Formats: sequence, structure tokens, C-alpha cells
Amino acid sequence: MASPHVLVTGGAGFIGSHTCVALAEAGYVPVILDNLCNSDARVRERLQRITGSTPRLIEGDVRDRALLDRVLGSEAFSAVIHFAGVKAVGDSVADPLGYYDNNVHGSLVLASAMRQAGVRTLIFSSSATVYGEPDHSPIPESAPCRPANPYGRSKRMVEEALADLQQSEPGWRIALLRYFNPVGAHESGLIGEHPQGKPNNLMPFVCQVAVGLREKLVIHGDDYPTPDGTGVRDYVHVMDLAEGHVAALRHAERQPGLATLNLGTGRGASVLEVVRAFERACGRPLPCEVGPRRPGDVPAYWGDPSLAQATLGWRARRGLDQMCADSWRWQQGNPNGYAP
Ligand code: NAD
Ligand code: UD1
Repeated sequence: MASPHVLVTGGAGFIGSHTCVALAEAGYVPVILDNLCNSDARVRERLQRITGSTPRLIEGDVRDRALLDRVLGSEAFSAVIHFAGVKAVGDSVADPLGYYDNNVHGSLVLASAMRQAGVRTLIFSSSATVYGEPDHSPIPESAPCRPANPYGRSKRMVEEALADLQQSEPGWRIALLRYFNPVGAHESGLIGEHPQGKPNNLMPFVCQVAVGLREKLVIHGDDYPTPDGTGVRDYVHVMDLAEGHVAALRHAERQPGLATLNLGTGRGASVLEVVRAFERACGRPLPCEVGPRRPGDVPAYWGDPSLAQATLGWRARRGLDQMCADSWRWQQGNPNGYAP
């Protein structure tokens, strides 16, 4: 039987590219659709080196209905994994319409094009950010959703639209995957995350301090009600996440329905724990300074991944030391990302 083709929107990006590896390893043929607004087409050559085949890249936008009709009509896709979207919280506050257009409108165009083409299996990149500030951790999927910014609300709106679609047309097979904090890189060091400009997130910032691109890490507050006073998050290795997508796809193939699942480790790590683990990985002390709290930050949260384990048979296997070691390998080998 021919290998099933999976359309991976946003597949040139950080999580999408790692998922292309996991898909290829599981016997699927990933086809990337990406407008490259936050990625680099040279990722394909790296994917070729890891998997032995170069994924096809369709350069275009998920909001382009005519393009989607052409793509979905031209070959038989068994499923779509939808990563394409924008994800910077601050930008979403500055440009809510742009965020709703890309994340919400883009998802609606995609789902209706899938419907027309008869492709009804969809894995959607949601985020733990839909929970907002949780009442307690670990957070189960049943916790209230109170997203605190336009980015988070855009993810929640898509979740609700897809749940309504699945209700009205029960043949759909949909997984809404709520990621906690994805970090790390493929263990080859050939693909990884390369944020444009100054990174907002902790791990890419730590990487740039370690490699000497930034002078020091500013710890955003050490007076939180956490064991060491710094913020606590559920960091999850991007290859564990990638494998979670394959497990979600296999689950969706087995049965129609809607699954809403946390993908995290179930364990929180503080900023200082991340810094110490990274120091072990790179073998040098990282200059740090404590600054004020970052506005909008939650003191601590981590996910309850037990439903994903029970439903998909998936759990995160890679620990913080491996997340740091793999991030460091990628950063050292590729200080300019995919550019020479
Ligand atoms: P990323 O920016 O590396 O990847 C997103 C990809 O989508 C990029 O390659 C970008 O060029 C592409 N893209 C954006 N808008 C598009 C459009 N309209 N049409 C076609 N392509 C488009 O980000 P990522 O970290 O890999 O995130 C992937 C998904 O996971 C996003 O939807 C994001 O919101 C979600 N997510 C990410 C995180 C995280 O911390 N990285 C956490 C939770 C959820
Ligand atoms: C941020 C986003 C969230 C998104 C997530 C993706 C905000 C408010 N939230 O969350 O919507 O889903 O990224 O992974 O932007 N820290 C420092 N110094 C730094 C950077 C971060 O001390 O230079 C601390 C933060 O205060 C926090 C922890 O590190 O305690 C993790 O921060 P970050 O990587 O930005 O992730 P989130 O805050 O969870």
C-alpha cells in the first residue's frame, strides 16, 4: 500500500519541521504548505539529511482558498496537521486583527477547503495558553479556559469552531493538542528553533547567552511563590511533541471524534533549574541577573498529561537535561539558523 500523504501547514517552522521527521519515521509522506513568514525553506535540505527524503514544499498561505482547493484536490491526503499561525503574545496585543486573521480565519479557510475535498482528519496546534492563569497545577483539560490575550483567544476560538464542526458532522476526526512549553531540537543538531530578533522565550534566550550573542539572561522575577522564587513551566522536548502528533494522527485514524489533549511532561521546572541544566549541557556558567517580573506572567503552571497517555499511549520521554543538550547542539552548530 502507498504511504499516506499528510499535509503539514506551517511544516517549515519549529514544531512542524520536527513533526515532519516523526511522520517520515512513522511511514507517512509529509507535504509542507508554508508561507515562510517565520521559517526558512533551507530546512528541507536538513530534513533530507535526517530522513533520507526531501519533503515537498508548497509555498503559500493557508488563507488562500484557491490554493488550498488546488492542493487538496490534486492528490489524496489522508490528513492535515495544522501548525501554520503566528504566536507572539506581545504582537497579538499590538495587532489583534492580524492575529485573528492569520490564526482564526486561516483555520476556517483550511477546514472548509478540507470539507470540500473530503479530507476530514485534522490535528490542530493549540496551546496551554488557552487556560490563562490556572486555579491550580497540574492543569487537566477540564480546567476552565480563560485566555488572557488575543493570541490565546485566537487558539480558543479555533478550538471552539472545530468542536462545533465535529458536532455537526460526526465523521470528522479532530485532535486539539494543547502544547505546554516546547523546547529542544532534533538530536542530530540539524533542525531547531531560530527566532527572529531578540527572543522572548526563555530557552532561545539562554541559548544565545551561552553562545555569546547576548551578554546575560535577565530572570524576570525571583519573588514568586515557587520553591526558588522564579517562574515554573512545563517544558516539553519538541521531539516528544512531534511523536505526540503521530500518536494523535494514529488515534484519529482509528476513530472519528474530537480529542482535546494536553501535551506536556506533567512536571514543572523553574527558571533557575533550566539555567542550571543548561550550564551542565554547555559546560560553562551563564551570566544571569534578576530583574522585575514580566507583565502578564503567571507564577507557575504545568500540565496533567494523563489523558494523552490514556488516549494516545503517548508520554514525554525526554528530560530537562536532554532538552538543554539538544538545544545547545543546535545553537552551537547553527548560530545563524539555516543561513550559512
Ligand atoms: P513557527 O513560527 O516556527 O512555525 C509556524 C509556521 O507557520 C512558520 O513556518 C510560518 O512561516 C508558518 N505560517 C504562519 N502563518 C502562515 C500562513 N498564514 N500560511 C502558511 N504558513 C504560515 O512556530 P512553532 O513554534 O513551530 O508553532 C507552530 C504552531 O504551534 C503555531 O500554531 C503555534 O501557535 C503553536 N504553538 C506553539 C508554541 C510554542 O511555544 N512554540 C506553544 C503552543 C502552541
Ligand atoms: C510564553 C507565552 C505563552 C506561550 C509560551 C510558548 C507570554 C506572556 N506567554 O509563555 O503564551 O504559549 O511562551 O512557549 O509571553 N523568563 C525569564 N527571562 C527571559 C525569558 C523568560 O526569566 O528572558 C522566564 C519567564 O518569566 C517564565 C519562564 O522564563 O517564568 C518561561 O518563559 P517563556 O519561555 O517566555 O514561556 P511562558 O512565559 O510560559
